[in-house]
Order: sequence, then C-alpha cells, then structure tokens
Amino acid sequence: MARPGNTEEFREVARRRLPQPLFDYIDGGADDERTLKRNSAVFEKRSLVPHGLVDVSRINCGASILGQQLSMPLILSPTGMSRLFHSGKELAVARAAADAGLLYGLSTMATTSIEDVAAASNGSRMFQIYIFKDRGLTNELVDRCAAAGYHALCLTIDTPLAGNRERDRRSGMTIPPRFDLRSLVSYALHPRWLLDFLKNPDFRLANVVHRVDALASGPTGLIEYVNAQFDPSVTWEDAKLLVRQWKGPFVIKGVLDADDAIRARDIGATAVMISNHGGRQLDGVLAPLETLPEIREAVGDTIELIVDGGVRRGSDIVKAICLGADACSIGRPYLYALAADGENGVRGLLEILRSEFARTLALMGKESVHMLNRGSIV
Ligand code: FNR
Repeated sequence: MARPGNTEEFREVARRRLPQPLFDYIDGGADDERTLKRNSAVFEKRSLVPHGLVDVSRINCGASILGQQLSMPLILSPTGMSRLFHSGKELAVARAAADAGLLYGLSTMATTSIEDVAAASNGSRMFQIYIFKDRGLTNELVDRCAAAGYHALCLTIDTPLAGNRERDRRSGMTIPPRFDLRSLVSYALHPRWLLDFLKNPDFRLANVVHRVDALASGPTGLIEYVNAQFDPSVTWEDAKLLVRQWKGPFVIKGVLDADDAIRARDIGATAVMISNHGGRQLDGVLAPLETLPEIREAVGDTIELIVDGGVRRGSDIVKAICLGADACSIGRPYLYALAADGENGVRGLLEILRSEFARTLALMGKESVHMLNRGSIV
C-alpha cells in the first residue's frame, strides 16, 4: 500500500503489522462495542454549512487550551502500554506531538516514565492519573509530574474498575503477551513485529513498577491489575483534593453529562474531557459529540471542553468546535500510526490531520478556529 493518507489507512496498515490480539486490543471496545461504533457514527450525522467568497488565503489553525498555545485544537489522549505496539513506545508519540505543536497526554499505564518523556520532549505535556488504593503512590506520581515540569494533570473518572473487553478474551490477549498455542500462530505470522518486540521486551508499567509490579509476575493481566490496584471508592471529594494538591491546569476525563461537568468546574477543574474512554468502559452510553451541546449550554464559558472519542478526520475536529468544543482529543488514531511506522507514522498522521483541518476551515470560509460556531453546522 502507498503511504497512508488518512486515519483509516493507518488503521489498515496497523491491522496487517500487528499480531491480531494486539490489533484487537487497540481497536476493540467493551461488550457489544455499540458505544465504540456510535462514537464515530455520530460525526457522520452532522453536516457542515460553508460560506463562499471569504478571503481564506491565510488560515490560522492555532488554539489555546489548558494554558498551552497549540498549533491546532488537538490533544493526544493518554493510552497505556504503547511498548506493545512499537519499540518507539510513548517517546515516539511524545516527540511527534511536540514537533507538531500539540499536547501529549501520558498515561499512568504507560511503558515509559514521567521523567523519560519530559527529557525527550520539550512540548506541552499532561499526565493522566488514576487514584490507587495506595494513596501514597498517587501522591508520589503528582510530585514527580510537578518536578518534571508537566503542564497539566488529568484524572480519569470512568474506570473504577476495568471494562468488559470481550474481543480480548476471544483473541487470547494477555498483558504481558503469553505465547499459548492460539496466540503463538498470530505472533509467528508477524515476524517484523516480533523482531521489533525482541529488541527490548520490557512492557512493565514504567511509572509504578517500583511499587506494584503485578503485570510482570503471576498470572494477572491488565484487567486484574486494574481491579486489584485502582480504588473503586474514589469520590468527588478525592478529586477536589487532587485539584488542590496539583494547583495547575486540571482535566477531569470521562464526563458525559452536564451535572458532572458542573461538578468538575465547581471543584476547580480547568477542563473536562467529554469521553467514554473510546467505548472501552461502559457500553451503551452516548457518544461525546452528542452530549457536547447540552454540556456547553449548561457550563457556558466557565470551563474548557475537550471532545474525546471517534475523531478520525480534521473535519471531525471542525464539527466538534462548531458544537461548542475548545479542542478534540484522539487515542486510537495515533496508536495505529505508531504500530504502522513508529515515530514517522505518528508524525505523518498528525501532519495529515493538520492539513485536513486547515483545508476544512478554508472550504468552510473560515480564517480561524474562533470563527466556527453553531451556525456552521446542522
Ligand atoms: C485508552 N484510553 C485510556 N484512557 C485513560 O484515561 N488512560 C489509559 O491508560 C487509557 N488507555 C487506553 C489504551 C488504549 C489501547 C486505547 C485505545 C484507549 C482511552 C483514551 O484516552 C481515549 O479516551 C480514547 O482512545 C478516545 O477514543 P478514540 O480516539 O480512540 O476513538
């Protein structure tokens, strides 16, 4: 295939490059994957309303979010275990994001440390945190992020326990990968991935491994790890304490309605990420784009709104902004690109999204992001 020219083409290359259990781990969602499908389907239901005879010889894609000036209103959402997909792992994604002028979100479940990402990239960085039963570990992560100069902290609130990923069960996905007869065939059929994998087969959770190394020992996979380590008793009180402890820009990720967005604002969050975890947690919920207008209506301009889930094209970002988002965020698209071609792949994808976004603005007759509004979409 020629060089991938859009997200779907990167997905296709990733599908061929990765052993099936790993591709399914990225691509899949919870239960029947209804929410997963809905996330991107809702973008198709919305239509843009362009205006002609406007001077669009200079397009300004820039946007400000979480106090960071970005080249366009796009964030790279936190995703765990990048080492499984390419040896470039989180470092490759963070570097590509920094060079593209975008904000990178590093996950608690990352295979690269907070400090290594900070040393490798001077771009805008956010750390996504979970609250562990061991609160000492959570506090330590916050302190490390502050010391390493992270610009924002993001608390994910949709994972009190792990979602039901049936595709992973069917495909024999385990973390770390275990080579039973079924999965062995798929791994053996992908020698290119296998060679890259063998370069440095270390996918321990880099930020917590010194405290809880459940992944590297015993029969536990990621789901058991989450259920054993994350604290399911966390409430808004805990979130409020974390906001106070961090002091800087703070995101609550996993909000799907106006009440929670108002609560997030009231405890001092800078932004909410309207998100259903890419359809990987509770199946049967609304897509972020659907809930956005009601949330914007309820909060006015008192808190920033980021739409996360189903964004695949620059025109999707334009649609979300027309409906009231300050920015969008992507997860799977950059993982497909990482799996397809490491850092080069992610750079290529981000450049494609930027040119799609700029072209959409021009074809809409809008010189800048600020000119998009409810009148630009039906
Ligand atoms: C995720 N996501 C996620 N979210 C989070 O807060 N912490 C995490 O560790 C992870 N890990 C993770 C792994 C993988 C493989 C995927 C695909 C996703 C969810 C992610 O941040 C984001 O919400 C979704 O990926 C957005 O949907 P799209 O862009 O993938 O459609």
